[in-house]
Amino acid sequence: MENAFAVMAILASVFWSTAVSKFYIESCSGEDKCKSLLGYRIVADTRISNVVAMFGVTTDEILGSNNYEVAIPEPDDVIIQAQELLRIPVSCACSNGIRRTDSIVYSVRQEGETLFSISNEVFGGMVTPLQIFQANSNDPAGDLSERGLNSSTEVAIGKRLMIPFPCACNAGNFKGIPAMFVSYMVQRGESTFEIASLFDSSVSSVVELNGMQKGSSLAAGDVLEVPIPGKAVDYGLMVPNGTYTITADRCVQCSCNYPRLDCTPAPSSSGCPCPAPRCAGSNLKIGEFTTKASLQGCQVTSCSYNGFHDSVIFVGYINRSSLNIDL
Ligand SMILES: *[C@@H]1O[C@H](CO)[C@@H](O)[C@H](O)[C@H]1NC(C)=O
Ligand SMILES: *[C@@H]1O[C@H](CO)[C@@H](O)[C@H](O)[C@H]1NC(C)=O
Ligand SMILES: *[C@@H]1O[C@H](CO)[C@@H](O)[C@H](O)[C@H]1NC(C)=O
Repeated sequence: MENAFAVMAILASVFWSTAVSKFYIESCSGEDKCKSLLGYRIVADTRISNVVAMFGVTTDEILGSNNYEVAIPEPDDVIIQAQELLRIPVSCACSNGIRRTDSIVYSVRQEGETLFSISNEVFGGMVTPLQIFQANSNDPAGDLSERGLNSSTEVAIGKRLMIPFPCACNAGNFKGIPAMFVSYMVQRGESTFEIASLFDSSVSSVVELNGMQKGSSLAAGDVLEVPIPGKAVDYGLMVPNGTYTITADRCVQCSCNYPRLDCTPAPSSSGCPCPAPRCAGSNLKIGEFTTKASLQGCQVTSCSYNGFHDSVIFVGYINRSSLNIDL
């Protein structure tokens, strides 16, 4: 019995030291925030509705960020399998000099939940019990033991805890390209190549961004940041490569196939309160185009989405000759 406890203590200390060794991925100053992504592996089979509740996101955001079918019936009931990777949009803030999410609030649901079980069984170990404690204490550098607490102390049902995942903004830019950043916790045995491939990124980008030394190996539990190129249309809207978003009061769907951003009217099931947005004086909906023969070749006029502000959807014509178009 005593041996079993000793082994558990060693396992726990290994776990803590690897997780704490990558306590954060970007330092910061000031109060700015950005939209960022978590690369999160589902711990046990779960419904999208549960993911929505755990991370304080909308169903549309989960569908869009993971490029699921826009109009799947009953999306909240879709089951995500254990170990599946989800991209979860989060708000990334600056707190005590470190970038951490400030949008994830977990409500304790059952008797017997502890900081340790919330850290590991609910959130897969990507945030440590101490980090959860500090984010919810008025002493951000405090230690559990000072309060007579430890990570096995039960947390009362209904208690709302801020969950501070590591995240990164990097001013929305990676090597001159607009980008969003996904924070991802290394799984046992994973290589840099495998991680880069998960997000259509490259080994060199991951190595450079994380300041990795040549030949250094990855430890399970380390958190890495991976850049994903993205395009912005609206103020504050960033659509990472390979994903879509529903915007403009649920009326417009924009998909990023970097470097292109393709915006079309959102499917009627999205709940847009108005008819599909069109360009003035024509039948063209956003994303549609017409072609007309002219002396120079073919003239293409497309109706494009130019952003959303104060409940107004901005649209505009773009005219191009066929000589250099790619539609
Ligand atoms: C953790 O704290 C609880 C009280 O909240 C206590 O009963 C328990 O013995 C402590 N465990 C350890 C390992 O210190
Ligand atoms: C964008 O994503 C696609 C597939 O989703 C991928 O083939 C392409 O390489 C990505 N582009 C960049 C610049 O990462
Ligand atoms: C583009 O074409 C539309 C429709 O033919 C026309 O109304 C508009 O003036 C043109 N815009 C430019 C910038 O040429």
